[in-house]
Amino acid sequence: MEWGMANRMAQLIQSDGRCLFLPIDHGYFQGPTRKLEEPRKTLEPLLPHADAIFITRGVLRSSVEPGNAKPIILRVSGGTSIIGKDLAYEGITTSIEEAIRLNVAAMGLSIFVGSDYEHESLLNLSKLVDEGEKYGIPVMAVTAVGKELEKRDARYLALCCRIAAELGARVVKTYWCEDFDKVVKGCPVPIVMAGGPQVDTELEVFEFVYDGIEKGAIGVNLGRNVWQNDFPVAMIKALRAIIHENTTPKQAQELYDSVKRGEQE
Ligand code: 5RP
Repeated sequence: MEWGMANRMAQLIQSDGRCLFLPIDHGYFQGPTRKLEEPRKTLEPLLPHADAIFITRGVLRSSVEPGNAKPIILRVSGGTSIIGKDLAYEGITTSIEEAIRLNVAAMGLSIFVGSDYEHESLLNLSKLVDEGEKYGIPVMAVTAVGKELEKRDARYLALCCRIAAELGARVVKTYWCEDFDKVVKGCPVPIVMAGGPQVDTELEVFEFVYDGIEKGAIGVNLGRNVWQNDFPVAMIKALRAIIHENTTPKQAQELYDSVKRGEQE
């Protein structure tokens, strides 16, 4: 691996082989998502606990201090909205020159396998990988499901992850699911897990993250279940403990509760 590519990968994946990416890119199709209305405010307390952030160029420039950032995974696909015809109809929204100018550690793009725009999104990934490899910038493929959350099963996600890896993604972001080991086994590059919409309890999040890591994921790219929680710092600290210290879900819950109590006093 070229030095630049290796250096960027090392910025993303920590020396223990694990990572906690914090995505705050949701506005690129959801607008001012709940609790991400003011990205700077949401991000500031969480930034010290993240290994990297997944973000668009607009929010990066407007809401993150260049002198106090973390490695950047630049969201470079989009062009659709939550009220538009089809979320899958994404294109590449940001040039490679812009990614270089912003000194990013990686670029991230969604693929929509099985959708009407499968072909376009997969060619977008291939083109982005070609550009990224030229300059030593890894690509993280996001296996997106749009509004069809029920698609998140092992057979479908294994298909998406494998295709993303075959087309050259250096990291793949997918969802946790039952039989997650089947997804990991079929994918020759590292996998990180997203959370999807906020779930009912913190423990549910700790349990699926723990299970996913045990089954071979290297970490998370988890947004709403962190920053939509009433105690986001407690949440990210507990997740960090699972990812980087092999803490059990029960211990993570105890850590969450104690940080939460501290904040309430
Ligand atoms: C949506 C994304 C997010 O980065 C990804 O879905 C992770 O966030 P969450 O845990 O909230 O699902 O690609 O734009």
